[in-house]
Amino acid sequence: METQQEITSMPRIGDKAPEFKAVTTQGEINFPGDYEGEWVILFSHPADFTPVCTSEFMTFATMEEQFANANCKLVGLSIDGLYSHIAWLRSIKDKIEYRGMKNVEVKFPLIEDITMNVAKKYGMIQPNEAATQAVRAVFFIDPKGIIRTIIYYPLSLGRNFDEIYRVVVALQAADEFGVATPADWRPGDDVIIGPAGSCGAAENRMEGKEDMDCKDWYFCTRKLDKEEVLSKVLKNH
Ligand code: BEZ
Repeated sequence: METQQEITSMPRIGDKAPEFKAVTTQGEINFPGDYEGEWVILFSHPADFTPVCTSEFMTFATMEEQFANANCKLVGLSIDGLYSHIAWLRSIKDKIEYRGMKNVEVKFPLIEDITMNVAKKYGMIQPNEAATQAVRAVFFIDPKGIIRTIIYYPLSLGRNFDEIYRVVVALQAADEFGVATPADWRPGDDVIIGPAGSCGAAENRMEGKEDMDCKDWYFCTRKLDKEEVLSKVLKNH
């Protein structure tokens, strides 16, 4: 018998992404193995043929190339069957016009997860929110298959796709340049340098001996050119 713990088990940041094989609208996938060497966003939505989810799918599909240019693939999931997925995606393309988006074709895979196999592995079922629908989860998985960021939204709240894209770029910038990114960071903004590891280093920083701007010994930033970031993160730049 399935336990509450099994339903609510949640992978954490830094964990290896749980593996699974699944049927999708683009054929079978092996996850995360098929995405080795690329970033991938695995996201869930509560149900097909629902308005918030439809607005989200249209937005993600419209931004798919932008994500691909940042070496990031998209994979969706809901606890619905393949034929429901196909019918819903056809309806979106043929009938739905929303905020200037129309004839939107969803080309990324949408996983059928009637058995909830994947949803349970990824903590997408949160029973006090909904027992049979996945919440709006977003897992950011790096080219080595490690979970790097997780965001959860409830059923009623559509996601912010600018933020989702910002996370992909900021994670890659942090990896490339060995820095951290402050609140609301965007390419071109100053970045945070790691903390001083000794009293001497702290002293040097405060005496202005390093090429950085220190508000205090533990809070130092440096410039990072927007073009330098974009040339590392974006394929076509
Ligand atoms: C929606 O996507 O519109 C939705 C799905 C489940 C509950 C509430 C809203």
